[in-house]
Amino acid sequence: MSWTPGSPEIKSLWALDPRVVYLNHGSFGATPRSVLAMQAELRDEMEAEPIEFLGRSWPARAAEVRERVARFVGADPRGLALVTNATQGVAAALDAVDWREGDEIVVGDHGYNAVKQAIRRLVVERGVRLVEARIPFPLQERAQIVDAFAQAITPRTRMLLVDHVTSATALLCPVFELVALARARGCLVLVDGAHAPGMLPLDLEALGADFYTGNLHKWVCAAKGCAIFYASPDWRERTHAPVTSHGYTLGFHEEFDWPGTFDATAWLSLPAAFEHGDRLGWQALRAKNHALVREGRAEVAHALGVELPHSDDELLYGAMAAIPFPRGTPGSGPELNARLYAEHRIEVPFTSYDGRIFVRISGQAYNSPADYSSLASVLASFG
Ligand SMILES: Cc1ncc(COP(=O)(O)O)c(C=O)c1O
Repeated sequence: MSWTPGSPEIKSLWALDPRVVYLNHGSFGATPRSVLAMQAELRDEMEAEPIEFLGRSWPARAAEVRERVARFVGADPRGLALVTNATQGVAAALDAVDWREGDEIVVGDHGYNAVKQAIRRLVVERGVRLVEARIPFPLQERAQIVDAFAQAITPRTRMLLVDHVTSATALLCPVFELVALARARGCLVLVDGAHAPGMLPLDLEALGADFYTGNLHKWVCAAKGCAIFYASPDWRERTHAPVTSHGYTLGFHEEFDWPGTFDATAWLSLPAAFEHGDRLGWQALRAKNHALVREGRAEVAHALGVELPHSDDELLYGAMAAIPFPRGTPGSGPELNARLYAEHRIEVPFTSYDGRIFVRISGQAYNSPADYSSLASVLASFG
């Protein structure tokens, strides 16, 4: 179907408050009405007969939805599990490795705090070292990201933990090259694709990382609490679910499919999220979301009087972009976010990296170019 971003028909697919200019799809996604409707039906079904739903029929239903997800991300379903979020996927991967004192984990300095916290815990409990690869930003070319990791590797490096899309700076990292680097230097590699599924086409078998995790509740527009965790064949038998439950040691899927009693409707409503994306067309969606962000970031940067931190190369960013704030900005990131929301009903995050504040815009089908113009005109008058 042909469609225009931000048109009334497209906006009506989502339940978002029409009074808010919503430019933060990146943080928690936004779930379309069709997915919420399927989830509500599933909840009714679950509450009508909880034992049938969560007991007898669950293993077959979980397997069916997993097969569908596996096709979408190009994974062998035998190595793919559903988890609640990327934070849990990272936890499962880090827990699988027999860390030795002095082992080093290299993570990009644009990395996500919750993930670094998981490594800091290993620092305290297992004596590993957290090493940051310094990725320049502004960035001229993708090769600088690979160079940053290459320079951080030492003979003690055990694992590279690579963001597929960085959170604060919205950069796409060249994961194929980074997996190749890890292989060449004898390191394990965990790819944190929290923002990747739906924003970028995925082929996890071709990528060949040891572990991959990514959210479905962001750019696949699934209900909240849907994510993937992938383990390569070498790791499947040695990897446990982040929560130990009945399935412990009974097999990869047995472990992950039952984290204890939970609301399984988020996972089971995934077919509606895929249908939503299929109707808009995944390729068209990616291209239109990227175009919104490309135009939006230029307009916002112009209004702020700042240089863009990287070129328009499509390999450098997808459906999000970070624009630096001029130095001497009045207020912290959270203060700026609260002010924009309170005074202008614009929802946009302000991130920070290397002592600088960035405004991070997202582009999703419900956005229109006018949303970025509203942001730009408000930011231009900020003092
Ligand atoms: C790079 C990165 N990793 C991990 C996460 C954690 O995602 P979640 O809170 O869904 O677990 C995020 C969230 O935005 C992220 O940007």
